[in-house]
Amino acid sequence: MSVKYAEAEPATTGAAKYVGQAVDRLDGPAKTTGEARYAAEHPYPDLAYAALVHATIPRGRITAIDTAAARAVRGVIDVLTHESTPAMKPPPKPSVLDLSSMVSGTTVNYLGTDEVHWNGQPIAVVVAETPETARYAASLVRPAYQELPAATDFEAEKQHAVPQKSSLIAEASANKGDAPAALAAAPYAVDLTFSTPPHNHNAIEPHATTAVWDGDRLTLHEGTQNIPWTRRHLALRFGVPEKGIRILSPNVGGGFGGKASVWAGTLLAVLAARVTGRAVRLALTRESVYHTVGGRTASTQRVALGAEADGRLTALIHTSVSRTGRSGGSGEQITAASRHLYAAPNIHLQQHTVPLDLLANTFMRAPGESIGTFAMESAVDELAWKLGMDPIELRMRNEPERDPLGGQAFSARRLREVYALGAERFGWRERDPRAGAMRDGRWLVGMGVATAYHPSLQMMASVTVRLEAGGTVVVRSGLHEVGMGAATVQAQIAADELGVPLEKVRVEYGDSDLPPGTQAAGSAQTASVAASVIAACEKLKRTLTGLARRAPGSPLRGSRPADVRARDGGLYAGDRGLTYVEILASAGRGHVEAGVKTSTLAFMAKFLRERRKWVKAATGAQFCEVRVDPDTMEVRVSRWLGVFDAGTIINARTAASQLRGGIVMGLGMALSEHTLIDPRSGRVVNPSLSEYHVPVHADVPHIDVEWLNEPDPNMPLGLRGIGEVGITGVAAAVANAVRHATGKRVADLPITLDKLLEL
Ligand code: MOS
Repeated sequence: MSVKYAEAEPATTGAAKYVGQAVDRLDGPAKTTGEARYAAEHPYPDLAYAALVHATIPRGRITAIDTAAARAVRGVIDVLTHESTPAMKPPPKPSVLDLSSMVSGTTVNYLGTDEVHWNGQPIAVVVAETPETARYAASLVRPAYQELPAATDFEAEKQHAVPQKSSLIAEASANKGDAPAALAAAPYAVDLTFSTPPHNHNAIEPHATTAVWDGDRLTLHEGTQNIPWTRRHLALRFGVPEKGIRILSPNVGGGFGGKASVWAGTLLAVLAARVTGRAVRLALTRESVYHTVGGRTASTQRVALGAEADGRLTALIHTSVSRTGRSGGSGEQITAASRHLYAAPNIHLQQHTVPLDLLANTFMRAPGESIGTFAMESAVDELAWKLGMDPIELRMRNEPERDPLGGQAFSARRLREVYALGAERFGWRERDPRAGAMRDGRWLVGMGVATAYHPSLQMMASVTVRLEAGGTVVVRSGLHEVGMGAATVQAQIAADELGVPLEKVRVEYGDSDLPPGTQAAGSAQTASVAASVIAACEKLKRTLTGLARRAPGSPLRGSRPADVRARDGGLYAGDRGLTYVEILASAGRGHVEAGVKTSTLAFMAKFLRERRKWVKAATGAQFCEVRVDPDTMEVRVSRWLGVFDAGTIINARTAASQLRGGIVMGLGMALSEHTLIDPRSGRVVNPSLSEYHVPVHADVPHIDVEWLNEPDPNMPLGLRGIGEVGITGVAAAVANAVRHATGKRVADLPITLDKLLEL
């Protein structure tokens, strides 16, 4: 696969040598050789294995639970049920003063009660000498239930949805002007209803926990995106001091939001270890992931657009219904991107939610924006058909100069450049604007575009940077390396800030003993940690400059601190200076360290202040070409280009992978992914990769990724997070390409051939 990388640009501070380059991931060798250990790969001499028993009713009470047959299996150590097990303390409540807590999870007190809240809820845990024994014995546990009425059918229940509440950090509605009246008066209008199905998390590493108690001290090997919250949550639920809990999470095999909260498997592994006095490993089966880890909500959305004949929007309406679990989860920000995309004078946005007796929903890559942009960007395309206008031209005519709702400035917005570059590279001019007019042999060919959008967040992270006597730099922060190169980019930044070779930088991460990082969520980790790494390096340089100027016979004696630069492994004013090794040797120091600690209150104040001034976001344009079989309506995506305005790109290789991964996940959303829930029982009926179809190599074409690489003036180093923007707009670009190839608008994901044949 050939990839075109944009030219590396200098960073905004210091002289960039590594920032912008296509640096190999520092964890690459350990992962490709198998040396890297994941949560389920840590041996302990007394290790026992746990397996879950899942409820088979959606709601009710357990009247009896027969564990005799399971206990009789040789090798079974214990069977934990609500009858036999001391209850955990109730789950803590999320608080905006603790950002790491702002993740959905469940409020269920597993094994603390006889209540069943969803079909698949864990109701017992078998602990045994081998994983096979645990799973077999789990199959022998026989519960009896008193079933209660349950609401599990989204289609039937969505009429009961209520307006979603806004929170301090996310608004659920907006009104400007009179959108319904403007829509009614518009000479051109579309009014469409979209639906998207539930989606489940399928990280390559299923959730796994290894829990080891030593008195009241707990060591936990866990694949998580959120070490701080996992630690605090466990401390509260098990009534032990937080400082006695050590979470080790150096390697995580994909998260996407599914590992940002604390789910049943983690809690029950810790409980099982507590009760049995053994080290316990619980590696969830794929099916258990579906039953215990939330996924993306289903949605129904309405998008109505009114326009003048020249394409200028007069009305923009986007409303949504999504679902939560009655025992947890939260409303998705489905209309969030629609707040910022188009300069309509009349806007109405409203999100609704309905709680169901299903497992709590949770964050899944661009929660809200991924499915919200499917609806909005499909509707804009449909309006272009109605107007007989090129869909890129229609978007450019409505490109706002300031935020359409709040009137704030954009921190930097270059969607015009993004589309111009994309159209040229993709060959948009060769597109015949008529539907069904392009062919390749018998295949119908279609080309579609859609806008990608994700807000650029920066949270907070504590970091220390230490220079050792031998010249090694150690960056320490409890950041999460979920597989995207998170630690590598921080090493690049530190190397540039201190002017040392990359090989001299070591990043320690994924450990609760380190200064706490942020959770890896909201596409915010890299910017959050980078800001603190830069600040810590600045502090360190100030200390080192002082030491260097005081060194006996120092060539820096008398030079002004402002003239001193970090380069070539030392500090220099002009061509005179000292290496770091010399500075530490002359000061008689084994090491020098500087650190940055952040506070939630300071962060919140900055966030709220900045939000009034700027709208910050990564944007992009997704270009899709499809081939559709005219008889079977099979859709094959044949070509892809994503062009992004994502600020400074720190690492050209990991950034391309991150963006490309988002696009691949979007292709799954567009064409195949669909969690099937039996509406009668609330049971997920396709909890496996053989029946829940994520894209495989044969489904994914060559994906070109390009970027403008222009720094965002209001983000550290000018960088914007890129974890989520890649998936946004993808499903719409596919739907729009299919519309071009076939004349058919599929507004119901996934776009399967049966739907196209019926239209
Ligand atoms: Mo993400 S869905 O904030 O991991």
